[in-house]
Amino acid sequence: MTRAVVRHSTAAAAVPAIDMSTRLGSVGLPSPVLTASGCAAAGRELDQFFDITSIGAVVTKSIMLEPRSGRATPRMAETPSGMLNSIGLQGPGIHAFLEKDLAWLRERGARVMVSIAGGTTQEFEEIAKILREHGGFDALEVNISCPNVADRGQVFACRADSAAAVIGGVRRSTDPSIPVFAKLSPDVTDIGTIALACIRAGADGLSLINTTLGMVIDVDTMRPALAGVTGGLSGPAIRPIAVRCVWQVRDVLPDVPLIGMGGIRNGADAFEFILAGADAVSVGTVVFHDPSAPARVHAELATLAAQRGFTRLRDAVSYAHREADPPPADTDDGYDLSLPEWV
Ligand SMILES: Cc1cc2nc3c(=O)[nH]c(=O)nc-3n(C[C@H](O)[C@H](O)[C@H](O)COP(=O)(O)O)c2cc1C
Repeated sequence: MTRAVVRHSTAAAAVPAIDMSTRLGSVGLPSPVLTASGCAAAGRELDQFFDITSIGAVVTKSIMLEPRSGRATPRMAETPSGMLNSIGLQGPGIHAFLEKDLAWLRERGARVMVSIAGGTTQEFEEIAKILREHGGFDALEVNISCPNVADRGQVFACRADSAAAVIGGVRRSTDPSIPVFAKLSPDVTDIGTIALACIRAGADGLSLINTTLGMVIDVDTMRPALAGVTGGLSGPAIRPIAVRCVWQVRDVLPDVPLIGMGGIRNGADAFEFILAGADAVSVGTVVFHDPSAPARVHAELATLAAQRGFTRLRDAVSYAHREADPPPADTDDGYDLSLPEWV
């Protein structure tokens, strides 16, 4: 039996009139909801389920210079409220990506944030230069959560100096009109320090967070469940960590555009990130069981923010950081100290 593909319409009458537009540096978006890198390929499959031009942008799978087949299988494992993956940046390489994926996205009229990855600072710069020559995209996300082959496989994002070296190189190699976002790892002691280093190196904004390192052991085989032993944990299990990272970075950098992600399944989850300080959100793992999730999250977020009295979503950004609400007007200190009648 063939399954009918049901296209989800974001123009549903139920979506209230609220201005959902946001800004990521020099780029304005009509919606703050994006796909998360690696969870939507280049958007072609999702476009069967909803109109990909209706969301903020498609964030493509991190692309490297050369084609890569990724890690050995098994490379996915289920976890409580999450998923562990060790795909290992499988992809066709930058040239095939430009010819097939980026060309299709442009023709389709989608806004595109291209995600790039590399094993050395030079590789990141080279990809950025190729992209600059080619053009045809709106923003760049730099996935620095990959191993630095020149430094014993230490992840770039886990040290301020290596993170800054990559971001500085990419920023210099990229058209100044294209915003560069650094995608950070939560697996650090102080995410504020890494965030600050990336901004000082020239990043226009930050994407928070990539997966956090985890591991599953199969108790039947009594071996690691993934061929790569460890993997990246994603899904609702990591949402409190991700919200905490957005909160902490927003405290350190009050005016820098932030994209929040980690376990967003619905509008309420997305709203949590907005309240913590995110200007936009990326929707990842949930797409594997609900491919129309980005459009649904947009509609649910609009409804929830309107119910809370917002007419512009951007007024809700960082709202949870506001000073304590004043006590009710009819009491001095917010506490009713009068004695009950029976005393
Ligand atoms: C299967 C899979 C592949 C991913 N590939 C990438 C990638 O290529 N580049 C990247 O920056 N993040 C990648 N991520 C991380 C996601 O973009 C996102 O940061 C993370 O999964 C948290 O969001 P989520 O819980 O909504 O999935 C991947 C995640 C998953 C689950």
